[in-house]
Amino acid sequence: MRTFRILLFCIIAASGNLVAFGDPNGPIAIVGAFDEEVSLLQSKLVDKHSTTFLGLKFVRGLLNGKDVVVAATGMGKVNAAMTTTIILENFHPRALIFSGIAGGIVPTLRPGDVVIGLKLIQYDYGIINDSGFKTGPTVDPITEKDNPLFFESAPELLEIAFKAGKKAKLNALHGHNPTVTSGIIATGDAFVASAAKCTELNQKFKAIAVEMEGAAVAQICYQQKCPFIVIRSISDNADSNAHEDIQKFYRTAAANSAELVSDIAGLMP
Ligand code: ADE
Repeated sequence: MRTFRILLFCIIAASGNLVAFGDPNGPIAIVGAFDEEVSLLQSKLVDKHSTTFLGLKFVRGLLNGKDVVVAATGMGKVNAAMTTTIILENFHPRALIFSGIAGGIVPTLRPGDVVIGLKLIQYDYGIINDSGFKTGPTVDPITEKDNPLFFESAPELLEIAFKAGKKAKLNALHGHNPTVTSGIIATGDAFVASAAKCTELNQKFKAIAVEMEGAAVAQICYQQKCPFIVIRSISDNADSNAHEDIQKFYRTAAANSAELVSDIAGLMP
């Protein structure tokens, strides 16, 4: 009995956190920035009911037989962090999946293609001095330690995403059959419409896609020990045509991301 108590204490102490985020009995949380990114998923839910917290709507139901809660975060890192926090506090999800669109910053990515985010970085958090701006790590307010510069998607979710990616039925765009690929995603509070910025993000961080929420969601999940993954489908190439392209392609891109995310949820234990 004594050995059991010591073992239990060690497990709790090692986890460093008594709050059970990543709760095995909790739903899978799925978030996207815009209504268009989440409405497809919400429309697929069976036995659904919604709740409102701080004016934001959270729809819970069964997706591919799995208990999920789906919400739109709003655009940008602050809104994404706020909605993620509300979900963690009120739903205790066992994992969180981000579904949405992104700008592709390598020429091999075309609208409709899907990126499984291996790692996420907030490229616009850092230090400004007389030499300019340098990206640096965020700080965890709980431990007061530096967070990692790159937040890594959970290996168990990546494994499921790769499996789902092999079979996903994605919508073609202008005769292009979308591919599923994986790589680093850069997050910042700006819509990128600059080929020069794409080159910089690729050279500095090896990023292949850019968006405005993923790493903020990742930071909250990392700090609260909730496994997460970010899935994005390309709506534009973050260049001077980005504003035009996003209008043409965001619906198909949002649908392709939702398709893969729905398959991932279905494959989760
Ligand atoms: N989301 C979709 N396209 C984007 C872009 N070009 N920049 C930032 N976020 C995006």
